[in-house]
Amino acid sequence: MKGTAKWLKLRSGSRFAGKTVGFVPTMGALHAGHMSLLRRAKRENDLAVASIFVNPAQFNDKRDLERYPRTPAGDIKKLEKEKTDFLLLPGVRGMYPDGYRYRLNENSESNALCGAHRPGHFEGVLTVVLKLLNLVRADRAYFGEKDYQQYRLVREMAAAFFTGTRIIPCPTVREADGLAMSSRNLLLEPGERNLAPALHRALRSSAGPAQVKKKLAALGFEPEYVEERWGRRFAAAKLGKVRLIDNVRI
Ligand code: PAJ
Repeated sequence: MKGTAKWLKLRSGSRFAGKTVGFVPTMGALHAGHMSLLRRAKRENDLAVASIFVNPAQFNDKRDLERYPRTPAGDIKKLEKEKTDFLLLPGVRGMYPDGYRYRLNENSESNALCGAHRPGHFEGVLTVVLKLLNLVRADRAYFGEKDYQQYRLVREMAAAFFTGTRIIPCPTVREADGLAMSSRNLLLEPGERNLAPALHRALRSSAGPAQVKKKLAALGFEPEYVEERWGRRFAAAKLGKVRLIDNVRI
């Protein structure tokens, strides 16, 4: 507790009466990547809580928000199968009673990588994650390394605002052909789906970032960036209407 205010325990403050809580925030269209986070939350805590909320504030492109896959009935079945204890399913007005007047802004790392190409994206992510952490008051929250920049920003935000929730990174779950699982993969046309694993292959190649970017363009991707930082190599590229991201450790 060094460096934080003194805290007197006057009564059991936990919303879940002494039980430890693991939380997995999602935007739904659940796949095996999401479920790996949930299984870990279940394993490491007494209770597992999930949320599904397609957060309008983090979509810089209106059409991306409209197209975003929504499969609530299937999602609930999957959560039940994994014995998730609680599901938080808020509406937009419930999450933004202020009409998004209050926003959480980060002034450094959120301007790089995806932040440089998606204005307002991380402001929307950090704002909604802080709200969710405040609602759930979990002991641990689980985030995928597929969205590594998001994981880092959330981890440091959670510490900066004394949320009391530990942010736990989880490895990227991939399809057999290497494509990182993502809800947006449902939107790929068959030809695009065949090409998509080339993003991961290119990231792992020994070529430098500039060459990888060229290679992706030659294959038919519309690359946004290929960059190295934090001991990782990151890429974002469009395939038709779908924006894909991935990263690997180097
Ligand atoms: P969403 O894309 O639904 O992802 C929810 C969580 O699942 C995130 O932590 C993400 O990194 C993780 N995840 C997604 N695909 C994964 C994969 N293939 N392997 C491992 N983990 C994976 O990320 C969001 O939603 C939103 O930005 C959110 C944090 C919910 C805020 O709105």
